[in-house]
Amino acid sequence: MRKQIVAGNWKMNNDLSQTESLIYELKKIEKTSTAEVMVAPTFTNLYKAFESLKDTDIEVIAQNMHFAVNGAYTGEISASMLKSVGIQTVILGHSERREYFNETDEMLAKKVDAALANSMRVIFCFGEVLEDRKSGNHENVVGSQIKNALFHLDADAFKHIVLAYEPVWAIGTGETASPEQAQDMHAFIRKTLADKYGNEVADSVSILYGGSVKPNNAQEIFSKPDVDGGLIGGAALNATDFFAIVNAF
Ligand code: 13P
Repeated sequence: MRKQIVAGNWKMNNDLSQTESLIYELKKIEKTSTAEVMVAPTFTNLYKAFESLKDTDIEVIAQNMHFAVNGAYTGEISASMLKSVGIQTVILGHSERREYFNETDEMLAKKVDAALANSMRVIFCFGEVLEDRKSGNHENVVGSQIKNALFHLDADAFKHIVLAYEPVWAIGTGETASPEQAQDMHAFIRKTLADKYGNEVADSVSILYGGSVKPNNAQEIFSKPDVDGGLIGGAALNATDFFAIVNAF
């Protein structure tokens, strides 16, 4: 049975006191679903968030990391640094990292390797831009993002990888992929995995959808057979909305 996961990506939002308030609100709400829940605060608040949530079933995860072990990489954070403050899971390949910080498939392959070498779990993000969707090239784009960054791995590595399909045109725009568009792409992703690694691996990997998931559309999206959860941006900044999405399972 694949894991169902709802992860909140807080992006570059919330200073320390706002982080504490949001965590306080999150802890008050009852979780009625079986989904795993994660939140990704910004780096400076990871330790505080981890300490505040370590006795709950909300996992604190990171939004990014560097691939090097350590050294002269001003401003960067390594896997072992994340682990030293309790973080076991990292989001890699978010389209905002790709677009604004020039992260390439090649760089992401190294980041994935570094995370796995440190026994971390990876939420690996990818997705097409609007032009690719309009020109019908979306499957090619997504297929190559996955192949270029992940297909050097052995099948066992996929025990530690969660995929997150986030069509760029649906992020922060209020425009969601329709449940059918999400299902079609998730089925394509699973087939891409099956062609390389076989059905057992493909059927075991959780594939999350991200892009304008809200309390009013979560249930329909999550009801699709190949959608195993969501990566939530804007709606994750409000505890009530976030848990309405979590509890949509
Ligand atoms: P929104 O939910 O704000 O569209 O963001 C999605 C996202 O980028 C999560 O990583």
